[in-house]
Amino acid sequence: MNGIERVCSFLDEAQTYYLATVQGDQPRVRPFGTALLYEGRLYIQTGKVKEVSKQIAANPKVEICAYKDGKWLRVSGELVNDDRRDAKVAMLEKMPSLKAMYSADDDNTQVLYFKNAKATFSSFTEAPETIEF
Ligand SMILES: Cc1cc2nc3c(=O)[nH]c(=O)nc-3n(C[C@H](O)[C@H](O)[C@H](O)COP(=O)(O)O)c2cc1C
Repeated sequence: MNGIERVCSFLDEAQTYYLATVQGDQPRVRPFGTALLYEGRLYIQTGKVKEVSKQIAANPKVEICAYKDGKWLRVSGELVNDDRRDAKVAMLEKMPSLKAMYSADDDNTQVLYFKNAKATFSSFTEAPETIEF
């Protein structure tokens, strides 16, 4: 597995990660679970109606953090909105439970990919490892 594949599978295995955005000078954080490797990029999914989406539109800089089996992963970078139907379909196919709330053709579903991302795997026992994508 290459670096970005390892990042995505860590997020899959952790199941839940926490996505931090900024609203003015106030950090905002919430649980997220969507992660997809598509065309070599790491995507997440949300709804355009959510505050999180509005915060990303105003300031695309985010950080996510996930923890599993004594290791934690932080990914910082910028999120880029991708309105292509193919990318939304790929997300819904990977995460079918989303289909109860979202469809590729609604006006709400949003997928975004990381740009200028720096992912760091850390633990208490090993040196941190950083991957850029
Ligand atoms: C385990 C878990 C995973 C979640 N995954 C997502 C997700 O991938 N995308 C999403 O938009 N909301 C997800 N949610 C819901 C958001 O956390 C929730 O809508 C949150 O309020 C959004 O942030 P906001 O209120 O700042 O807009 C998840 C919730 C939980 C409990």
